[in-house]
Amino acid sequence: MAYANLRVDREGGVAVLTIDRPKSLNALDSATLDELESAFTALDRDPSVGAIVVTGAGEKAFVAGADIRDMLAMGPVEARAHAERGQRVVGLLARTPKPVIAAINGYALGGGLELALACDIRLASENAVLGLPETSLAVIPGFGGTQRLARAVGPARAKELILTARKVPAAEAERIGLVNRVVSQGTLLEEAKRLAREILAQGPVAVRLAKEVVDRGIEVDLGTGLALEREAFALCFATSDQKEGMRAFVEKRKPAFTGR
Ligand code: CAA
Repeated sequence: MAYANLRVDREGGVAVLTIDRPKSLNALDSATLDELESAFTALDRDPSVGAIVVTGAGEKAFVAGADIRDMLAMGPVEARAHAERGQRVVGLLARTPKPVIAAINGYALGGGLELALACDIRLASENAVLGLPETSLAVIPGFGGTQRLARAVGPARAKELILTARKVPAAEAERIGLVNRVVSQGTLLEEAKRLAREILAQGPVAVRLAKEVVDRGIEVDLGTGLALEREAFALCFATSDQKEGMRAFVEKRKPAFTGR
């Protein structure tokens, strides 16, 4: 399917989704949110896609936020619907069982950082700048930022960033655990795709279950999380890939996983 504000490129099992409105620093307007909803749904359903990389077009921005012009005239009813839609779109990324990597190639602000926070792994280029500056517009984050930033970096750091509207450079984002690591702008996309391929080489069912158990475990108490882990661990032993993975180790060869 062709999109006006997105590009989807495939390389083997890795789909690269590029948000492509560079004149507005890839800000998420209504049309782009609709396209993202449709693209994320299609990628989630497509069995030939094993992993997803999300990035922004150009060298300046990943996504500079929800489109401020769209929100200017909204009242509370429209704003609630806008937040619901944004949370739903971002939630599609958070909930897909496929690994999702954000390749943050510049500004990731407001809704842009909220999108990146829904990804499993965040890589950033050296020029990236991240933040939730919504309070500078006299609103709060509405696409999940208050919840996912606190879970990513802890409540005190999240409150400092949200309450001051401060934007942090890539190196600081790495130091506080907001991004996994910083790489040069020129190697960012290649590094994200390499990481996706590295994940795709592991046992597919195990990868899916590991992601689910980490995500669900964060939401529950430790005992419940450990119970989820035990059940998922047991389930791995129902796959032929578990036999293949362990047999290959013993036989000192590379495993050939089938996803079953
Ligand atoms: N919405 C709409 N347009 C945006 C935008 C946004 N979030 N961010 C940038 N743009 C547009 C600018 O209006 C400008 O367009 P024109 O050329 O037509 O004037 C173009 O992108 C380039 O931007 P700048 O000229 O401002 O570029 P800069 O290099 O001087 O500054 C920047 C870059 C610091 C990222 C600055 O653009 C900026 O602060 N953007 C807004 C960031 C922001 O506040 N994001 C949060 C939005 S609210 C939100 O996301 C709510 C939510 O939780 C859902």
